[in-house]
Amino acid sequence: MPVDTIAVPGETRAPTRADARGCRIAVAGERDFQAGRDELLLLSALNQGVNYPHSCRVGTCGRCKTRLVSGKISPLVDFALSPLTNRDLKDGYILACQAKVRSDLEIEVGLIDHRVTLPLSVVGEISGWRVLPGGVIDLRIALDEPLAFQAGQYAALAVSGSFVRRSFSFYDAPPGPEGAREVGFLVKHLPGGRFSGWLAARDRCGVRIWVEGPFGQMGLDDTPRHALCVAGGTGIAPILSIAEDRLQRFPTEGVTVVFGVRAQADLFALDRLERLSRLAPGRIRVVPILSHEPAGSGWSGARGLVTAALDPGLGIDWGRASAFVCGALPMVEAVEARLTALGLPRGRIHADKFEPSGL
Ligand SMILES: Cc1cc2nc3c(=O)[nH]c(=O)nc-3n(C[C@H](O)[C@H](O)[C@H](O)COP(=O)(O)OP(=O)(O)OC[C@H]3O[C@@H](n4cnc5c(N)ncnc54)[C@H](O)[C@@H]3O)c2cc1C
Ligand code: FES
Repeated sequence: MPVDTIAVPGETRAPTRADARGCRIAVAGERDFQAGRDELLLLSALNQGVNYPHSCRVGTCGRCKTRLVSGKISPLVDFALSPLTNRDLKDGYILACQAKVRSDLEIEVGLIDHRVTLPLSVVGEISGWRVLPGGVIDLRIALDEPLAFQAGQYAALAVSGSFVRRSFSFYDAPPGPEGAREVGFLVKHLPGGRFSGWLAARDRCGVRIWVEGPFGQMGLDDTPRHALCVAGGTGIAPILSIAEDRLQRFPTEGVTVVFGVRAQADLFALDRLERLSRLAPGRIRVVPILSHEPAGSGWSGARGLVTAALDPGLGIDWGRASAFVCGALPMVEAVEARLTALGLPRGRIHADKFEPSGL
């Protein structure tokens, strides 16, 4: 059903920080925080500026894995069907993004030592709508209030009056603490996609839309090093943000972008990558790679899956590089395995898997 036919009373809004009260969450070796009874543990933490590890917020990535030492939660999903293993379940692990707080809790989780941007729910109006090759929509939203985010983060988008809410990554460079008045997303039109199908059906400029965020921690790596960025399809969105941010912040370091799509006709966002090349001449290399380009098409660039481009021929000093990987789950897992085999330490591979992000 298209999202604009779903009527719900009022607006969907993230809980505000004022809602977070009632239960005390004691994090072993870290600061305590408060959570409202029946609030999601992860959202309560993020709403209070606690830098809780997370990525997808929908129970698929396993990044918010937390040991519940004492107290009561209600799981939103069956943890036996989640990324938690049988061993994890025996040891008392839960997923914080899928756990409603029911009492004071004692938990064990390694909080992330990094600056935090508090998530907000901000309403705006679609100000740009452009169809790109490969069935991708370049969506711009003019916000009523500024929203801050960091490179590689994402927001949940929900059309005003609809409960269909989906995650999409910011593609602009981070705006700084004052926040952005306009934000942009690259949305892949999926067959049967409730949000993307609605968005792709016609020019949606002028429609009111909620932007809730920022979320995610993929780009949070403050060490000046060469950045190897690997993107599949719209995974290029957070990579554009990370690449521009790092080119600006680390003026002596380079960026290599490996960008995989199916065929030449599906290549998009090249104008944005060229803009980055002009911004930092000689410091960014872009390697487009095509998995399904017909033989004899005249394409002289790389062919195959993105992993085929990851070899010593890239000339990267693996001991002095960080990797940022974004796209579909099988692609991300294959790239992680390849980079580890090439000698990149696991802790320097930062990834977001573009999984289904709603019901
Ligand atoms: C952290 C994060 C950031 C993301 N950033 C982006 C982004 O910048 N751009 C972007 O285009 N997408 C992004 N995604 C993926 C996007 O949120 C989902 O694909 C979303 O479900 C699409 O919503 P929809 O309403 O169009 O399709 P849905 O109605 O959710 O799904 C329609 C059908 O497609 C299947 N499906 C949904 N998503 C995928 C997928 N990723 N791969 C394969 N099958 C799928 C569903 O199972 C369903 O059968 C991100 C996901 C996460 C978790
Ligand atoms: S499983 Fe909880 S953030 Fe991904």
